Formats: sequence, structure tokens, C-alpha cells
Amino acid sequence: TNALRLGIAGLGTVGTGVVKLLSADADRLAMRIGRPLEITGVSARDRTKDRGIDLDGIAWHDDPVALARADNVDMFVELMGGEGDPAKAAVETALKAGKHVVTANKALLAHHGTALARLAEDGGVGLNYEAAVAGGIPIVKTVRESLAGNRIARVFGIMNGTCNFILTMMENEGVSFAEALAEAQRLGYAEADPTFDVGGLDTAHKLAILSALAFGTEVSVSSVYVEGIEHITRQDIRAARDLGFRIKLLGVGVETDSGVEQRVHPTLVPMDSPIADVQGVFNAVGVTGDFVGDLMLEGQGAGAFATASSVASDIVDIARGHVAAPFGAPATALKPYRRARM
Ligand code: NDP
Ligand code: HSE
Repeated sequence: TNALRLGIAGLGTVGTGVVKLLSADADRLAMRIGRPLEITGVSARDRTKDRGIDLDGIAWHDDPVALARADNVDMFVELMGGEGDPAKAAVETALKAGKHVVTANKALLAHHGTALARLAEDGGVGLNYEAAVAGGIPIVKTVRESLAGNRIARVFGIMNGTCNFILTMMENEGVSFAEALAEAQRLGYAEADPTFDVGGLDTAHKLAILSALAFGTEVSVSSVYVEGIEHITRQDIRAARDLGFRIKLLGVGVETDSGVEQRVHPTLVPMDSPIADVQGVFNAVGVTGDFVGDLMLEGQGAGAFATASSVASDIVDIARGHVAAPFGAPATALKPYRRARM
């Protein structure tokens, strides 16, 4: 057949969500793309785990790097996570072999995004990562494609579903931080190591990616000021409410005359502001452009299906022949990151 052949590495929360979406909507997707999508190979650690998905007839690879270079894979979908190997090695292998890559891995992109973008461009293949920032919210394409005519002054927002879920549960249900985090883990929102969520680093990864897209700079996560929500108590939340505020973990990227400022920290937002109303696993990302003005997108920031929606959009984009420069400008043209004096 003329099917586009996918290799999917990682069959956890997001990977199983993607397999379910692709099988539930196979005909509609084939109609939209003009040819069918076929999963020809998968990889995960435990071959024996029941994942609630049908993998009959699909080749199993214990080694994701072998999957990335398999002859019957046209597009490699990386849903394992982690900034290092095997995710990094597998993505590099796929790009060097001239295969398109779709990933949800913000840690990988925050640390190696510029170099991977260069590899993708050298090979003339796509490297798409809509799911890496704010789960189901289409913010990557919005900034890269829809707002390409603007000079962007600021990107900001709630970019971690786990933290917003915890803060909401602590305020509305009176549960403890630990109980709320355990529930976020049970629902599949948290990272494999949840200190990335609550410590603010996951938001920093997303902000670093978004800043590169917005300001045309190389990705620089080491320059982000990071403070998490681990020390926020129910008393803090009540005290904020008594003063007319809510506590939200925000990521903020601003272009200033002295460079780009990136910061992540708990923030008091006025109770009557739209961002204060963003509850539970929802995220909201705001952008200020010189021609468009202010806009904000809100939606589910984590979870199997919302994230699968973004992964599927990346697969469809490439399958339709849209191969964009990953950061909206050739990687060689990205400005070196210049940190603002704070
Ligand atoms: P999970 O921990 O649920 O799944 C990870 C999967 O990768 C598992 O299937 C695991 O195998 C497999 N895996 C891990 N290490 C290896 C390895 N060395 N070799 C082969 N397979 C491996 O993670 P998520 O699905 O939650 O997240 C996946 C990615 O998506 C991460 O980059 C995450 O940051 C990102 N993401 C997650 C979102 C969410 O809501 N969960 C939202 C947006 C992005 P096994 O099952 O056998 O253990
Ligand atoms: N752990 C992340 C979150 C997943 O809670 O937002 C989505 O990137």
C-alpha cells in the first residue's frame, strides 16, 4: 500500500492515547491526509504489560533506536520522555536516517532543541512537537505559523497541568499537597519524576521552547529562573483569596532591550483575571504580538487524549507534506540567547 508507516516509541499515558486515537479515527485521518497511516513498529520497556491497546501484527522492538532506524518506518514518534538517551539517541538516529520525527518530549527539546532542529533541516525532514508545550493547546503552531507576521513581546501562562490541578484541589477540595499530587499521578498528568512538575522545571522546559519560537532565539533552558510550588500551603492559598488573589504557577518570557527574560514562579493573580479562572488540569497561554495585540488560548494541558490530539496534528501535518523549520526560522538563523539583566 501507499500507507505512511509510523514507529511509536513509548506506550505509556501518551503513547497509548495516540494508538487509540489513530485506530478510532483511521478512516477520517486517511481521508484528510489522502493515504492511510499504519503503525508498523512500537517500542517500550515491558513487552508483557497489558496496555489496553491492540498491538497484533505490529513489530515489537526492545530497543527504540532500532525502531528509529527500521526500514519499514517513515516517521518516528517519540513518546518515552527524558532529556537523554534513549530518547535523544533514537531521535537523532531517525533524523539522520531521513525520517520525520514527532515528539512530545519537552525535556529533550529544551536541552537539545536547536541542535536537533539543525539535524532535521539538514535532512530535509520534519521535527514536530505540538504536544511538548501545554498538552492539547495548539500553541506551538499558533506562535510559529499563525502569528508569524508579528513581533512578539511576551509569552506567558499556566503551562503545567499537574501544578494547576494540585493548586485547584488544595483550594476547592481542601486536600493536602501530597494527596493532590498522588491523584494527578493516577490520572497520568505528572511526569515520570513528578519533581519536574512541582519544582517548576517542566514549565521551564516549555517556556524555553516557547521563547525560542516567539523571539527567534536559540533554546536556552539554563537561563530560566525557576521556583516551584512545593512550598505552597493551604494557608497561603487562603491568605491569597482573602486579599482577592489566586496563586498560579506561571511561566513568563519577555523580550526587553537588554535581552530575553524567562522566569517560572508562583504568582498572585487577581481573582477577576481570566487566568485566575483556569482550573484543574487546564492550561492557558497568552501571547502579545505587535499587530495581533493580546490573545490567550486555554485547554487541557495534560492527559492521554488531549496530548494525543496534539501528537496526531503533528503526524497529519507532516503526512500532508507540511515540513516547517522547527523553531520557525532556519536553526542557523536563530539568535544566540541574550539573557536580560533582571
Ligand atoms: P509514561 O511514563 O506514561 O510512558 C513512558 C513510556 O516510555 C512507557 O511506555 C515506557 O515503557 C517507555 N519507555 C521508557 N523508557 C524506555 C526505554 N528506555 N526504552 C523503551 N521504552 C521506554 O510517560 P507519558 O506518556 O506521560 O509521557 C511521555 C512523553 O510525553 C514525555 O516526554 C512527557 O513529558 C510527554 N508529555 C506527557 C503528557 C502527559 O499528560 N502525560 C503531556 C504532554 C507531554 P513501559 O510502559 O514498558 O514502562
Ligand atoms: N506533566 C506535564 C503537566 C504533562 O502536568 O503539564 C504535560 O506536559
